[in-house]
Amino acid sequence: MSDQITKLPDDFFFGAAMSGPQTEGMWQGMGKLENMWDLWSNTDIRAFYNRVGSYAGNDMGARYAEDFKMLHELGLSSVRTSFQWSRLLDANGKLNREGADFYHKMLAAAKEAGIELFVNLYHFDMPAYLFRRGGWENREVVEAYATYARTAFEEFGQEVTYWFTFNEPIVEPEQRYEHANWYPFIHDYARARNVQYGISLAHALAVDAFRTLQASGAVRADAKIGLINCFTPPYTRENPTPADLEAVRMTDGIHNRWWLDLVTKGALPTDVIETLAQRGVTLPVRAGDEAILARGVVDWLGFNYYQPVRVQAPAADTDEFGNPCFADPYKWPEAVMNESRGWEIYPRGIYDFAMKMTRDYPQLEWFVSENGIGIEEHNAARDANGCIQDASYRVPFVRDHLRWVARAIDEGAKCRGYHYWGVIDCWSWNNAYKNRYGFIEVNLQDNYNRHLKESAEWLRKVATTHVID
Ligand code: BG6
Repeated sequence: MSDQITKLPDDFFFGAAMSGPQTEGMWQGMGKLENMWDLWSNTDIRAFYNRVGSYAGNDMGARYAEDFKMLHELGLSSVRTSFQWSRLLDANGKLNREGADFYHKMLAAAKEAGIELFVNLYHFDMPAYLFRRGGWENREVVEAYATYARTAFEEFGQEVTYWFTFNEPIVEPEQRYEHANWYPFIHDYARARNVQYGISLAHALAVDAFRTLQASGAVRADAKIGLINCFTPPYTRENPTPADLEAVRMTDGIHNRWWLDLVTKGALPTDVIETLAQRGVTLPVRAGDEAILARGVVDWLGFNYYQPVRVQAPAADTDEFGNPCFADPYKWPEAVMNESRGWEIYPRGIYDFAMKMTRDYPQLEWFVSENGIGIEEHNAARDANGCIQDASYRVPFVRDHLRWVARAIDEGAKCRGYHYWGVIDCWSWNNAYKNRYGFIEVNLQDNYNRHLKESAEWLRKVATTHVID
């Protein structure tokens, strides 16, 4: 069914998604402060694949002008990256002129290359000194983020049209505070939700600053503000029990509806907050918070899609750390896996979630802000010229997702474009360069030089014709 529609609208845009901390490098250059990734790299470099820490990114900080040209030649018209808070502000929370000049130059180079640069303000990269002061659990840090966002809007308000407050605000609560996968490795469900709440307030404060500055003319009149999240369409077993459906409700509530309600209604989903409270998880709500959250309504949304989430009723009410359990993973026997990343490949999920947004949030405009496949580098075959032969897995992955997007649009979804994650290979957190997402290879043995992979020509064709063949 998904292959019935093979043409995307003419005004549908194609671009590349990336982030400052994963690309820029120059981790100490231009007065940049230590961020969470530098802190973890400095604390335990062995935690990073092949001991490649946060330091070099993919060298884009030195090569952005040529990178933008390459991306434009592939038919892409926009690129999303992020400003690094640790580069734009100094330790007193004031503008770091050298850092700001770097971003001004990057914006000018993008324009020169015919690329619209979308700017996200936060990609899991808090300055370390603010984390040491309590991170998102501390209201002063939430306020500090609002100051950072306001400073960025003031400084770049005439240059940037598309702003985003956060990338994947669900990830730090989960990875740092709940599942203990990322530094500082905490297993505390209540603290994770506390962090999630702090980020929600920070988002709303930033949107508020944006609106005020736009009204005063400091931010251009055609600028838009959004939020980007990795939404995970939730599924459960066939013939579910009420308890399975309850697991779906809470998983969807925490991962998806929390953010969708915040950005469309300016409020958090009451059923989720009530269930949390019944299980002893209370949010650190203060008088006045409701009015702050009400300011969080955005102009449009970014939907990062990699995988669905499959859950079932939990076997126990609490886990080994005493945390409340709302769901257990459900292993779908038919799941197709990307073994390199351990993520399920389920292109239809992008359509299911698109239709959910169309049904439940009909006014919301959005775009696919990330989608991609990362395959272990050593699995990649090369032809006689050294070109990576990736078309057999990268092309079907993107094609299938785009066809489901085309079908959703045909059925009314307000999806405006598609950004592929990591068009140029980049540094992937503690996986470093293990899994490669790019249509363009970054050769670490050859001074980070870029080389087109086999699939690049296919991308160029689709991006320029809008035909998904
Ligand atoms: C998204 C993030 O979750 O997925 C990116 O916004 C990340 O920062 C991408 O790199 C791919 O995930 P990973 O962990 O394989 O790099």
